[in-house]
Amino acid sequence: MNTNTICRIRPAGRHILTIGRDLIQDNYAAVLELVKNAYDADSPDVHLEFKAFDDLSGYSIVVSDHGHGMSTDDIINKWMVPSTSDKRDRRKSPLGRMMQGSKGVGRYATSILGSNLYLETVTTVGEKTTVYLEWEPFKDATYLDDVEIIVETEKTSEPQGTRLTIEGDKEFLSEWGKGQFYKLRDELKKLQSPVSTVFGKDEFCIKLTVNDFPEEVENIDETIEPYPLFDLFDYRISGKINENGKGTLTYSCKKARNTIEEEIPLDLEKDTGCGELDIDIRVYDREPEAINTLISRGLTDESGEPLGKNEARRLLNTYNGIGVYRNGFRIRPLGERTFDWLELDKRRVNIPARCVGSNQTIGYVQIQAQDQSGLIEKSARDGLRENTAFNQLKAITTLVITQLEWRRYHYRRKEGLSRPIYKIEQNLQQLFSSEALKRNVRTQLDKGANAEKIIELIEQSAKQKNKVTE
Ligand SMILES: Nc1ncnc2c1ncn2[C@@H]1O[C@H](COP(=O)(O)OP(=O)(O)OP(=O)(O)O)[C@@H](O)[C@H]1O
Ligand SMILES: [Mg+2]
Repeated sequence: MNTNTICRIRPAGRHILTIGRDLIQDNYAAVLELVKNAYDADSPDVHLEFKAFDDLSGYSIVVSDHGHGMSTDDIINKWMVPSTSDKRDRRKSPLGRMMQGSKGVGRYATSILGSNLYLETVTTVGEKTTVYLEWEPFKDATYLDDVEIIVETEKTSEPQGTRLTIEGDKEFLSEWGKGQFYKLRDELKKLQSPVSTVFGKDEFCIKLTVNDFPEEVENIDETIEPYPLFDLFDYRISGKINENGKGTLTYSCKKARNTIEEEIPLDLEKDTGCGELDIDIRVYDREPEAINTLISRGLTDESGEPLGKNEARRLLNTYNGIGVYRNGFRIRPLGERTFDWLELDKRRVNIPARCVGSNQTIGYVQIQAQDQSGLIEKSARDGLRENTAFNQLKAITTLVITQLEWRRYHYRRKEGLSRPIYKIEQNLQQLFSSEALKRNVRTQLDKGANAEKIIELIEQSAKQKNKVTE
């Protein structure tokens, strides 16, 4: 006899931690999720305040914005619903921003940052809702909805916005040292694209405050500004490639006495396979004179003082990479120094004279929405899915870089700037060639030389090669 039973899938309590704590790539990704939520809520700003407790037994992170907040109904029907499709359905915020969120899981990343979360949110009409959550009970709850959460509602005259207070103990605190805050600052600086048209008129300000962390961590209180290098490039190639594979690029070289500009028509003779692309790539020469020029063009520190050579080089070492941006925000980890997704360094090893390395390139590739581009962000916030569209994105971006490289190469040859590179190439050739040795051996054998003489020749050649290597 057959029996039919209607069943339902009920996630276990710890499911929430799987999507928050286990899936999300790292602490930085978690903080960036909260920044993006503030942006999506039409807030003009977001403030990240990290504070260690006086006895260093733990810390708090307060993330506050002045967005439209959430009503109690939003809290219950969106915030408390994992994978809520709200943003996927709406796409645009009430004030017309293209929303960053779509997957409906970003907020659970707070669980990676601390052991509890206090949420206070105020709507535009003064409805205040508060929620207090501890993550620990979810670990052992048989089902997700076994954990009871108290939601409080009241009327208030407080300004609109959302404030998250996350607390963590000593273990969470120990995750944040000098290097981690440095990296967080870097991530925040790179989060928004300075070339984005989105931000031309729509300012979104990020503030970072760090207080009272163990000695080596300096207090921070700053408004995040993009790196100053951006406009000081030596070479640049930029332009739009339409979905049909046609576009125009503009190449410019600032090194020349009269800046060189050239329009380059581009036709891939087929669709891009990854939607429309807006590309802007800037290259910086790295010889000592080039670094001097960079400083003389106006490279300053945050207080406006010209940077020293080492500082300038350090800046270039930190701030490089080609980022991929959607609606003005970077998709991690593309554009990170250590994530050479275009394999620029591998190409440079093969053709050092022509190819540019990742430590001298800063770039922005703006892509379209998922539906138009086929470029899909992974839920773990660790990049784009490696599908055909992504391979196309890599191939086209590399093609654009090659256009710059050839022009830069010819310019440098003409100006005699590539000599050191030629020298290295010549030396390498000498190292791997046995032509000279063969010639000498033949001559000596013709003269009737014995084995000793030939060994002497081989030893001499080895000595010379050692010298070249040194
Ligand atoms: N700071 C905030 N202000 C107003 N509403 C918010 C805020 N943070 C979260 N929300 C609400 O909570 C919901 C869930 O946020 P969450 O970040 O988890 O998902 P998402 O932004 O929709 O998608 P993604 O996972 O891609 O970020 C949002 O859809 C939004 O309605
Ligand atoms: Mg989100």
